Amino acid sequence: MSRFQYPKSDKYTNYDEIYTQCSGPGGLQLAEFMADKMNIAPGKKLLDVGCNRGYQTCFLAKEYNVFAIGIDPWDDRMQANPMVEHLQENASKWGVENHVLGIKIGVPDTNISSNSFDYVYATTALEMVRVSQGVEGYIKAIKEIHRLLKPGGIFGLGEPMHLDTKIPEDLEPYVSQGEYPWKECFRNLKETVELVSSAGFTITEADYAPAARQWWMDFANHDPFSKNDPEGDMKTLVVDDGRWVSFGYIISTKD
Ligand SMILES: C[S@@+](CC[C@H](N)C(=O)[O-])C[C@H]1O[C@@H](n2cnc3c(N)ncnc32)[C@H](O)[C@@H]1O
Repeated sequence: MSRFQYPKSDKYTNYDEIYTQCSGPGGLQLAEFMADKMNIAPGKKLLDVGCNRGYQTCFLAKEYNVFAIGIDPWDDRMQANPMVEHLQENASKWGVENHVLGIKIGVPDTNISSNSFDYVYATTALEMVRVSQGVEGYIKAIKEIHRLLKPGGIFGLGEPMHLDTKIPEDLEPYVSQGEYPWKECFRNLKETVELVSSAGFTITEADYAPAARQWWMDFANHDPFSKNDPEGDMKTLVVDDGRWVSFGYIISTKD
């Protein structure tokens, strides 16, 4: 199958590095896909929610010329230091240290002033909030994002989602395992659109990403945790074979 092309991110070809620095399907291709859907323009201010090590944040700052603030409340699993410290290191490597700032906080308790951002970008992050804090917590997080956006601001949400179908019986055991079982983390597009709308957003576009399967397989082949555990995510994706696992995106605006 031929690969989907992403002109800005396809310049970066070290996938082992990209999937070590990012944490989820899509890596920099996802960031480019979302940025284009969000019509990100130079000179504007963007918040990256759940920025992890900030690789996508730096990519957006460099390739789209925005000022980007990355927030992430966690420490990383390998070195046990704050994710935002990695963001700052990466910003120097990418040459965007004057365009990027990391803050160790999470949604919904950001304490950032209202109407601060032109764009809020969140990929593969908020579904974790839904697992740890339930649907109520998820809506609260999205309401906080709404508060942080300027009127007319754009929210781009990218999330691992399942297609609108029942879990195939042979897949069920695979999506029921691990700390964040996929069957608990993933929702379908329709449900997620309803939740984003209920937080006050107007939806402008929502769909499953055409490259979802490519991004998941890239993740399984290059993410360091996945590479070390062939019976984990890789096995799940092979069994799934594109029947249930996907990746959805929702672009919405604050009126
Ligand atoms: C799987 S990573 C995704 C990183 C990156 N956006 C990507 O797509 O590769 C999700 C990040 O969300 C962060 N996170 C967890 N709870 C959060 C919260 N309440 N607010 C913001 N970020 C949170 C985690 O620390 C983690 O680094």
